[in-house]
Amino acid sequence: GEAIAIPDTRFSFDGIFGTYDRASAQRGFQVYKEVCSACHSMRLLSYRNLRELGLTEQQVAAIAAQFTVVDGPNDEGQMFERPGRPSDRFRRPFPNQQAARAANNGAYPVDLSVITKARLGGADYVFALLTGYQDPPAGVTMMDGMNYNRYFPGHQIAMAAPLNPDQVEYADGTPATVEQMARDVTTFLAWAAEPELEQRRAMGVKVILFLTILGGLAYAVKRKVWADVH
Ligand code: HEM
Repeated sequence: GEAIAIPDTRFSFDGIFGTYDRASAQRGFQVYKEVCSACHSMRLLSYRNLRELGLTEQQVAAIAAQFTVVDGPNDEGQMFERPGRPSDRFRRPFPNQQAARAANNGAYPVDLSVITKARLGGADYVFALLTGYQDPPAGVTMMDGMNYNRYFPGHQIAMAAPLNPDQVEYADGTPATVEQMARDVTTFLAWAAEPELEQRRAMGVKVILFLTILGGLAYAVKRKVWADVH
C-alpha cells in the first residue's frame, strides 16, 4: 500500500523545555506490565530504574517481588528461584527468539527498551501504531493471522491490537481509553529509551545562557579596550 504520513502527536517531552509527564509515564509502566510484557521484553531496564519515574523504594521492591527470578548456581551448584529484587532486569516473556516466534505465529515481538529511537517517526510512530488498527479497506486481502494497521509499513502486522478500552484499571482514576493508554505507554517507552533527555536539555539551556552572557561580556570589554583608539 501507499505510505501514510505519521501524525504529529503532542507529548509532554516535545521541544527544548519538554519533560516527561511522570504520572503518564507511571501509568504507561502499568500498561507495559499488564499488557505489552506478555510478549515484549525490555532487557535494558531494571526495576530500580522505576525510581526515576517517582516510584518509592517500597513500590519498586513490591513490583520486583511480583516476579520470580532464576538465580544461581548456589554453593551446591544448583540453580534456584527467588522473588525479584530491584536490581534485577525486567523479566523477559520468552527465553529466546525461537520461543517468542513460536508463540507469535512466526513474528518476533521486538524488545521495547529503545523502540522510540529505533523506529522512524519515534514516539509519534509508536502512538500511531497503537491507535492505528482498523478493518482492512475493501479489496485488501489479509494474510493469515495478520491485522490491518494504518501506520505499520505494509499495513499487515502480526501483532493484534494490544489495547482495547478499559484494558487496564488506573489507580488514579484516569479513564483507560485506547488513546490514553497509548499516550501513557508511549511516554513510558520514550523515557525508557532516553532517560537522560531532561538533564541533557537542561545542560544545553545552561550552556547557551553561559555563552550568551560570556559573549556579551567579551563585547563590552572589547568596546572598552578599543574606546580610545581613533
Ligand atoms: C511488534 C509495541 C503488545 C506482539 C510491535 C512493535 C511495537 C510494539 C512498537 C514494532 C512494530 C514495528 O516493527 O514497526 C507494543 C506495545 C504493546 C504491545 C506498546 C502494549 C501496549 C503486544 C502483545 C503481543 C505483541 C501483547 C503478543 C500477544 C507483537 C509482535 C510484533 C509486535 C508479534 C511483530 C509484528 C510484525 O512484525 O508483524 N509491538 N506491543 N505485542 N508486537 Fe507488540
